[in-house]
Amino acid sequence: MANNEELFKQIIAHAKEYGYIFPSSEIYDGLSAVYDYGQYGVELKNNIKQYWWKAMVQYHENIVGLDSAIFMHPTIWKASGHVDAFNDPLIDNKDSKKRYRADVLIEDHIQKIEDKINKEVEKAKKRFENFDEKMYRSTNARVMGYQQQIDDITARYADLMQRNDLAGLRQLIIDLEIACPISGTRNWTDVRQFNLMFSTQMGSVAEGADTIYLRPETAQGIFVNFLNVQKTGRMKLPFGIAQIGKAFRNEIVARQFIFRMREFEQMEMQFFVRPGEELKWFDYWKKERIQWHQSLGIPAENYRFHDHEKLAHYANAATDIEFKFPFGFKELEGIHSRTNYDLSRHEEFSGKKLRYFDPETNESYVPYVVETSIGVDRMFLAVFSYAYREEKLEDGSTRVVLRLPAMLAPIKAAVLPLVKKDGMPEKAREIMDLLKRDFLCQYDEKDAIGRRYRRQDAIGTPYCITVDNQTLEDNTVTIRDRDTMEQHRVAIDQLPTILWQKLRLCGK
Ligand code: GAP
Repeated sequence: MANNEELFKQIIAHAKEYGYIFPSSEIYDGLSAVYDYGQYGVELKNNIKQYWWKAMVQYHENIVGLDSAIFMHPTIWKASGHVDAFNDPLIDNKDSKKRYRADVLIEDHIQKIEDKINKEVEKAKKRFENFDEKMYRSTNARVMGYQQQIDDITARYADLMQRNDLAGLRQLIIDLEIACPISGTRNWTDVRQFNLMFSTQMGSVAEGADTIYLRPETAQGIFVNFLNVQKTGRMKLPFGIAQIGKAFRNEIVARQFIFRMREFEQMEMQFFVRPGEELKWFDYWKKERIQWHQSLGIPAENYRFHDHEKLAHYANAATDIEFKFPFGFKELEGIHSRTNYDLSRHEEFSGKKLRYFDPETNESYVPYVVETSIGVDRMFLAVFSYAYREEKLEDGSTRVVLRLPAMLAPIKAAVLPLVKKDGMPEKAREIMDLLKRDFLCQYDEKDAIGRRYRRQDAIGTPYCITVDNQTLEDNTVTIRDRDTMEQHRVAIDQLPTILWQKLRLCGK
């Protein structure tokens, strides 16, 4: 089995080779951290979005949708705090002229020490049989030493970040002897803050034009429409507003494929509640969201919660759902109890009341908010990387298969005439007509049947329907399961029901 780095490279290559994801502007050598979704990628992405939308808007009577504009009044980003505080600390290496995030350099350094601990533990496990006391003592001493280093660095780093001490961050990088991976030198500039928002000008005359921003999150579009939706939808607290849309961030360290992009999509839901009830709803949404992930059939050990120790000034609880990506556990989704910070700030900056009149208590107040926020692209990467397998078969050959959850797979069934003659293509076309209204199907008559099965496995198609000689006699076909590779013979007129049963969206 390939190591994780190798595996990740194979996943990226597979995504390109099979029409899932292409680098943006490839014929012009690409655009860093921007990607295009190909013919299968767009289907998988749409299915993920639909799966989320159903779980949020369709299954919850008190959640409605919204599609707000990407461009918004620039004061919104002042009110939200993004103009002043949506920053990353940057540092340049003077020799390589390469730019890095200071916090990432330090976190990578900590990760390297953690890797040393893991290595020691692995080594100890291998030597388990003849692991004597002396070995135990020396291993233990090394592990404790590494752990102490991590604790010291983490404490110093957290303090510097808390105090926004940029000179201190630089000094820490120097003290840890962190070198630039390109030049190998420690010739660093000062650390500076860099705002992550992209800006542009609105209006045809540059002089009078206002600087506006490409939204870095979809959430603010929900906050500024809170009263519009509440009043026109006659919504009662608690209720939620869900939105799927593009967001843009000028990420300095854009890496790990579609994990960290400059243009990406978010699925966000803001849930408005009575003050004082937010922590109860925070717990509710933690449970709901992890259940949504696990309903896809990906085993629970691939997910974990990571509670934030250091909370943003406006939050009173926050957690990440982390997923085991090929490069380790990383944030997939955030769940935040944002208090009444955003609505209060918009009241202050707009001068308009953003209050809810509670008919049960006869009071008017600014609601509290619990947010769930997940990146579509990150969800895509989670599902895709989990699904990718290279499997050894009994006959000694290997196959590459995408074990995508069937309800998310781009193509639900491939319809394949065994040979390109004897009326089989015509029969297969009839089956396509029977199914295509309800399911995205693919007709394929090229190459030997074994090769066509392999191709569908690599695309992740859960079912292959094959028309053979017997079909012409009794109107039955074989249906092949991608994961077990077993085939069963079924009547053609049963196919729609069978596929509905197999592909039923569970959603929760
Ligand atoms: N409204 C809250 C918010 O935007 P966030 O933690 O900054 O919170 C939420 O982002 C989610 O958006 C993340 O958990 C991740 O899935 C996704 N995301 C954030 N930045 C991203 C990027 N540069 N590329 C891809 N996905 C990103």
